[in-house]
Amino acid sequence: MGSDVTVPFLDLAAQSAEIADEVLSGWRDQLDGAQFVGGPQVAGFEEEYARYVGVEHCVGVGNGTDAVELALRAVGVGPGDEVILPANTFVATAEAVSRAGGVPVLVDCDPQHLLIDPDQVASAVTPRTRAVVPVHLYGQTAPVEALRSIAEAHGLAVVEDAAQSQGASSSAGRAGALGTVAATSFYPGKNLGAGATPARS
Ligand SMILES: Cc1ncc(COP(=O)(O)O)c(C=O)c1O
Repeated sequence: MGSDVTVPFLDLAAQSAEIADEVLSGWRDQLDGAQFVGGPQVAGFEEEYARYVGVEHCVGVGNGTDAVELALRAVGVGPGDEVILPANTFVATAEAVSRAGGVPVLVDCDPQHLLIDPDQVASAVTPRTRAVVPVHLYGQTAPVEALRSIAEAHGLAVVEDAAQSQGASSSAGRAGALGTVAATSFYPGKNLGAGATPARS
């Protein structure tokens, strides 16, 4: 028995269709106001997102890769500094470390949750380590309590890569509020994707 039903691997248009009217009306306001950089929409979003995550401040930047890079620079990562990150992540995490001038040091993940393994982090720390970047994935948060104690013992910053984890939380708190600073992404395929052209059905 055959079937001619095709289920697309990814259908962002279906997702956008649900909110198309609201997005288009927001776009109309934006075009009328002609303020395309910063402005009240961005300021309002930064405030609401900070409140949602449970942090004091949120700053909008160009994309998630820039956000990770700027967060690393903000905690002092510079040329030659080692930054520990999980091998199981998107390439942008390591790319951001290199763009900040740092050296990405990849460590393995825990086979149970596939997130960074704190024991591996502890073994990878050297006198040149400046930060550790937990990446929260699959609706889980990385084991931040263990990472924070390693970080405290060695004077490291914990820079969360929360690009794929908006809304994820654990007993430790919400992703994005668990480290020194956090970065996230609104690439169209992400949990809270933005930028997809709203579909008119
Ligand atoms: C874990 C992770 N970090 C960083 C990024 C970079 O985000 P962006 O695509 O917005 O630059 C991504 C997205 O692809 C990601 O999955």
